[in-house]
Amino acid sequence: MTQRQLRSASLLKILGQWHHPDTRIPVYRQLAEGLRLLILDGRLPLNNRLPGERELADSLALSRTTVANALNQLREEGYLQSRQGSGSVTRLPDTQVTQQAYTVPGDTLDLATAALPASPAIHQAYQRAITGLTEHLGSTGYDSQGLPRLRTAIARHYCQRGLATTPDQIMVVNGAVSGLALLLRLFTGPGDRVLVDHPTYPMALDAIRGASCRPVGVSLPANEGWDCDGFAATLAQTSPRLAYLIPDFHNPTGRCMSLAERQSIAAIAQRSHTPLVVDETMAELWYDAPPPPPLACFGDAENIISLGSCGKSFWGGLRLGWIRTSPGVIARLVQQRNTLDLGSPLLEQLTAAILIEEEEAILQEKRHQLQVQRDQCLALIQSYFPHWQTTPPPGGLSLWVTLPSPAATRFAASAENIGIHLGPGPRFGIDGAFERFLRLPFTLETARMEMALMRLLPVWQQLALVRSPASNMMI
Ligand SMILES: Cc1ncc(COP(=O)(O)O)c(C=O)c1O
Repeated sequence: MTQRQLRSASLLKILGQWHHPDTRIPVYRQLAEGLRLLILDGRLPLNNRLPGERELADSLALSRTTVANALNQLREEGYLQSRQGSGSVTRLPDTQVTQQAYTVPGDTLDLATAALPASPAIHQAYQRAITGLTEHLGSTGYDSQGLPRLRTAIARHYCQRGLATTPDQIMVVNGAVSGLALLLRLFTGPGDRVLVDHPTYPMALDAIRGASCRPVGVSLPANEGWDCDGFAATLAQTSPRLAYLIPDFHNPTGRCMSLAERQSIAAIAQRSHTPLVVDETMAELWYDAPPPPPLACFGDAENIISLGSCGKSFWGGLRLGWIRTSPGVIARLVQQRNTLDLGSPLLEQLTAAILIEEEEAILQEKRHQLQVQRDQCLALIQSYFPHWQTTPPPGGLSLWVTLPSPAATRFAASAENIGIHLGPGPRFGIDGAFERFLRLPFTLETARMEMALMRLLPVWQQLALVRSPASNMMI
């Protein structure tokens, strides 16, 4: 595997505010915590070579002993490996598959993942799909575009949302992220720019970087909406090869793009001939009112490509999503796919078809559950952390919390020590932005959410006792 060398300037940028001026915690441990969090978050990619001890000590203005102790601790924990002549290389401990592992061990509380467990309806759909599988067993089971019954159900779903769609405009993929990776393969090459909302969904940033492209952010306005002028200016100034937006209950902010903004963004993308990938993963998770019609209603299918997923509407374990575009682009995507995975599992496709055909009852229940959990979570925050600010989102799975000072990385690093995973703001930004933010999913059931907040309170209070070096204000 190729090994990349991280420059100390880049490391400093993504490390952000790692240092607590709390003298009870040795500085080397704080540095180790900050670096460990970056590795767990995926912000510091695996198999990356860190700068040497002397270079790190100079750029962090620390003694060489402090840096050496921090790196030794990470080596002992299995987050770094020393290789003769190639310094310290990032890795994960053998027991640590990934921070977003399928099961979270022991009493670890996961406030980093915004997803719900499967409802009984998922199990029932699987059972019915197994029965229906018999009629497909005579075929080879290979279909790179996806099961016609599922594509028909997805196309009908778009028609119901006001976007005329035929099954040949749909391609089933193994989740929205996989769909994005495929689109990046088709539309981009190494070094190309890809425009994104800023902040945005971290796996999208990872997929863009994984395709050797550079994400270019268009900042979302402070409280609501999208900056259409900023979108147009960034397109004109940076000529990205592709744009990726999340208009429906945007991850992480939860906001929803208005009808007028959709029309305007579609017209701008169309004028500049920039293919626009619209991630609609959260579109069905609304509480009071559905989102405006899909962005693809306002442009041609070749240029405005919709990306959908079963992950949030139904269950992440289905690992299914889809791409909606023109039949011509679908044909090119199918060709690209043939060197990757040759298709999606048939049983899951049958299950997804059943779920989408009968989605209304399942979605209604899920929307109700999420709305209740959102309100209970807001009340808990108000009582445990009255200085945190957030706007109740009209849909989605999480709150985007503004902290009173830029302490998200330190907070998340300290929370790891008490078995709580947090999603610090910089995970959603480019170059360490959003230190003042935390994404807090309300997907844990309320008693566990309260337990997590109760356990976090002393950690936060300990940070709040000290002055933040950047803001020089009390946290
Ligand atoms: C905006 C967005 N897109 C995609 C995904 C992942 O979708 P999938 O599980 O279908 O790959 C998520 C999951 O959180 C998401 O928030």
